[in-house]
Amino acid sequence: MTEFIHRFEPATGAHLPPLLLLHGTGGDENDLLGLGRMISPGSALLSPRGRALEHGMPRFFRRLAEGVFDEDDVRRRALELGDFVADARKRYEIAAPVAVGFSNGANIAAALLLLKPDVLAGAVLLRAMVPLSDPPEAELSGKPVLLLSGQADPIVPSSNSVRLAALLSDAGARVDHKVLPAGHQLSQADVTLARSWIGSVE
Ligand code: MLT
Repeated sequence: MTEFIHRFEPATGAHLPPLLLLHGTGGDENDLLGLGRMISPGSALLSPRGRALEHGMPRFFRRLAEGVFDEDDVRRRALELGDFVADARKRYEIAAPVAVGFSNGANIAAALLLLKPDVLAGAVLLRAMVPLSDPPEAELSGKPVLLLSGQADPIVPSSNSVRLAALLSDAGARVDHKVLPAGHQLSQADVTLARSWIGSVE
């Protein structure tokens, strides 16, 4: 099994979904711990560091240019991440996590939903785009997904996030897609919306 450098924080509350925190390009396993604690205080946090390096910056898969992905690498690394989560679930005795991914981390979370639907209980996708041009037919049977896009995002065109929302709903996910008055960076509204959404999913 491929090991990921990661942080794990055990739950401090009962009946809260564990979160799988997936950072953006150039981030690491420490980046989203604060966000995770704000979104779901008391949840267990599992936070791996992406294994693909771009000029020394960790990512979760390789890209050929901004927004142009090496899709073989996306597939391979999404499956690798899925194996890591399965192993971590046994090691730390946690339930299937809800992914909270930002940017490149949101894109690998979307790929994981499409390629290995059982790994995640749901996902918060912050500034995500369609990760695979020819995705497999996934069965997401009611899995909850919150997709938060930025109206003025220079990296993710709005048509692309609309396509991702449609792709996930067509596969059966319960998608809540909101477009915020923001760019690619996160805003306070992302935190507030993600927090109330997590509180509302069972
Ligand atoms: C990606 O490569 O996943 C997207 O372009 C987002 C980014 O990391 O900038």
